[in-house]
Amino acid sequence: MKMDVLLGLQWGDEGKGKIVDVLAPQYEVVARFQGGPNAGHTLEFDGIKHVLHQIPSGIFRSQILNIIGNGVVLDPIILKKEIEGLGKFSIDYQKNLVVSKKATIIIPTHKLLDAAYEQSKGDKKIGSTLKGIGPTYQDKIGRSALRIGDILSPDFREKYQVLVDKHKTTLSFYSFPVDKLEEMEGQFFEAVEFVKSLNLIDSEYVVNDALASHKKILAEGAQGSLLDVDFGSYPFVTSSTTMTAGACTGLGVAPSKIGEVFGIFKAYCTRVGSGPFPTELFDATGEAMRKEGNEFGSTTGRPRRCGWLDLPALKYSIMINGVTQLFMMKADVLNIFDEIKVCTDYVLPTGEKIDRLSFEITDLDVKPVYKPMKGWHCSLADVRSYDEFPTELKEYVAFLEEELKVPIKLVSVGPDRVQTILR
Ligand code: GDP
Ligand code: IMO
Ligand code: MG
Repeated sequence: MKMDVLLGLQWGDEGKGKIVDVLAPQYEVVARFQGGPNAGHTLEFDGIKHVLHQIPSGIFRSQILNIIGNGVVLDPIILKKEIEGLGKFSIDYQKNLVVSKKATIIIPTHKLLDAAYEQSKGDKKIGSTLKGIGPTYQDKIGRSALRIGDILSPDFREKYQVLVDKHKTTLSFYSFPVDKLEEMEGQFFEAVEFVKSLNLIDSEYVVNDALASHKKILAEGAQGSLLDVDFGSYPFVTSSTTMTAGACTGLGVAPSKIGEVFGIFKAYCTRVGSGPFPTELFDATGEAMRKEGNEFGSTTGRPRRCGWLDLPALKYSIMINGVTQLFMMKADVLNIFDEIKVCTDYVLPTGEKIDRLSFEITDLDVKPVYKPMKGWHCSLADVRSYDEFPTELKEYVAFLEEELKVPIKLVSVGPDRVQTILR
């Protein structure tokens, strides 16, 4: 048995949470492999809307084992709050949620460091969610981080203090206030006690044993490929490997055991935070897209930047991930437009036309070349099959498939589970 991977192909918020929840009945295990509480994955069903940050999106399906894998950076305070927030759903956490002992812990000073680094960057700031993601991954790679398994050790407090003292030196270099630290630490150690009561495991064995016994596993990506630490628009990226390869290292699964790779994209583009965005719209069209798509961050509430679909970027993401099936989200948001544009190429300041994302492109002011397409201008709210799609939407899908060379197997026409059309 192989593990399927589902990931975002743009700058995050493509609708991963919704689709993991939709696909979950076909699986026995859902596992997060990277990122942390910077993620905000929204699920809507039976009139309920819920945003998950660290808990995998299979949690509402009682037959699913949800794994927080070793590649994740985990905030105990947020995890405790998330679990408490799910209280009314009578979920059996001992049975349905497990946490890798090798997952890295976000401690309070990581969040202060995140804020200090951003403040020091001035107008060059990344636009981080300030959840401590970057500083925690820095410590992981720098071999000084604490891991979930460490909380069970009798000298956890001492190990913690060594790390905090190191962080305090850096915070004082940035003259960053630490007056909130004591209160944060109180919450932190209370949450650590709570996390001890969860099922803490060596998840690489659980995942590989599941595959060996022919169980179906879905790896749930967070963020998006254009925020990947290697291939995103560096330095305006997150600090993890958001692509398929990250599912291997973030769960301990061999590359030969990867099955389908589901690549999710919006029928347009959004980005929250700083960094290049060639098709960004600064006009009334962009404003209308934001309003129609309710494009406000699930984690921070920040307005998302909006623009037309970017094919060079999408082709790049498909290439680095080995995408086998495409899922197009939020088609309904384009209902309002008479004309829809798709970026097919970029024009460099030299006048050269390209459709590749080079190293230099991050710093260049590129102009998108658009193919205009006719809008469908009707509601998709009650559409339940591909045959009911308006002709113009069918043409949009056909054009994208021809360009991207990967089949679009799913089109989402609304936030609810039922507003999902399989092809
Ligand atoms: P994720 O981070 O990839 O899980 O995505 P988010 O949850 O941050 O953002 C996606 C938003 O779009 C959420 O508010 C979803 O409820 C919503 N959504 C998902 N699919 C659709 C869709 O097809 N149409 C519309 N209108 N909204 C959608
Ligand atoms: P989901 O999983 C959209 C963005 C931030 C910022 C950059 C770095 O919901 O799609 P970080 O906090 O990681 O240091 O921020 O990455 N970012 C996201 N944007 N969706 C996300 O997650 C994001 N997680 C981080 O806005 O630009
Ligand atoms: Mg999100």
